[in-house]
Amino acid sequence: MPVITNIEDLKRIYERRAPRMFYDYAESGSWTEKTFRENTSDFEDIYLRQRVAVDMTGRSTASQMIGEDVAMPVALAPVGLTGMQCADGEIKAARAAEKFGVPFTLSTMSICSIEDVAEHTTKPFWFQVYTLKDEDFMRRLFERARAAGCSAIVITVDLQVLGQRHKDLKNGLSAPPKLTPKSIANMMTKVQWGLGMLGTKRRFFGNIVGHAHGVKDASSLSSWTAEAFDQSLDWAQIAKFKEMWGGKMIIKGIIDVEDAKMAAKVGADAIIVSNHGGRQLDGALSSIRALPAIMDAVGDQVEVHLDSGIRSGQDVLKALALGAKGTYIGRAFVYGLGAMGEAGVTKALEVIHKELDISMALCGRRRIDELDRSILMIPENFEGRWQS
Ligand code: GLV
Repeated sequence: MPVITNIEDLKRIYERRAPRMFYDYAESGSWTEKTFRENTSDFEDIYLRQRVAVDMTGRSTASQMIGEDVAMPVALAPVGLTGMQCADGEIKAARAAEKFGVPFTLSTMSICSIEDVAEHTTKPFWFQVYTLKDEDFMRRLFERARAAGCSAIVITVDLQVLGQRHKDLKNGLSAPPKLTPKSIANMMTKVQWGLGMLGTKRRFFGNIVGHAHGVKDASSLSSWTAEAFDQSLDWAQIAKFKEMWGGKMIIKGIIDVEDAKMAAKVGADAIIVSNHGGRQLDGALSSIRALPAIMDAVGDQVEVHLDSGIRSGQDVLKALALGAKGTYIGRAFVYGLGAMGEAGVTKALEVIHKELDISMALCGRRRIDELDRSILMIPENFEGRWQS
């Protein structure tokens, strides 16, 4: 086993071990993938101010997200089909998160169900909600999340329709994978993955199959979204969800100041500045570029989190210094999971923690609540100058 020192190392192993169809699913953005690329490259445009001869003893990355204690403000993002990257993937990722002391968010489009994850963990996790047309299903989904002890729901507001990712269509993405000469040939080379999959029954969309009705192809994410997702989702419906749930609610998928204001008005406990990892509207701003204006507009009204593009502890540090109270990793933990299962997710968290801790120290800060914009050097035109 090579020495793993960064997230890129995990990605290389993951690429070798996971079937191409699922690697491509994780590693795609929509259309030209401009937003997907800029989510990471825009972080590089921000510099860190090195400060020296500052006492660095007694450092801690501990803080809180929505009032919950976290070992570092880095949650695992909801990622569809995680249990296809590695057998029982959601259970393994949730366990790694629990041991590390960071929140795990289960996707509606997961392979392991809410009940599966609850059964294999001891602390509350968060549940991400997609809005399906079937009202009865939605009501039961909230009940199931409540029964599982979830401490927050994360409503995704940027995916009533699916942004097109070319590779998924070309690969015929499905869970479980459809057996074609091409997919069989590829899976034959993924021995460890295959043995894992043979050893589990969890190979379908566990929250959906057997719980929701009215879709022709129950194995295809694109069929589900096209046929079952409620395209009419609006702020009134989100307010209704808040009432139905009655607990903490995080709104995920905000990239515009006006939407951030609406989310604050509807009473979200937190918003996630996110463009869905560049998987929805290609051509939208990167999350890190959108963050400063959103902080200025609603930072004093609602807790602001950020996802999309985080691959290192330095990225986390930059988002926190710009005012975010929390961040999420999606691909970064999937690389670890696909490479080495639960141990790989733990490795991804350790890598990011170490980068965050050391970079924070070299900026002359010892605690998360000491971070602010003064540790950054941001190009004057970072947020862009747009015609009105
Ligand atoms: C689903 O959330 C996806 O981005 O594929």
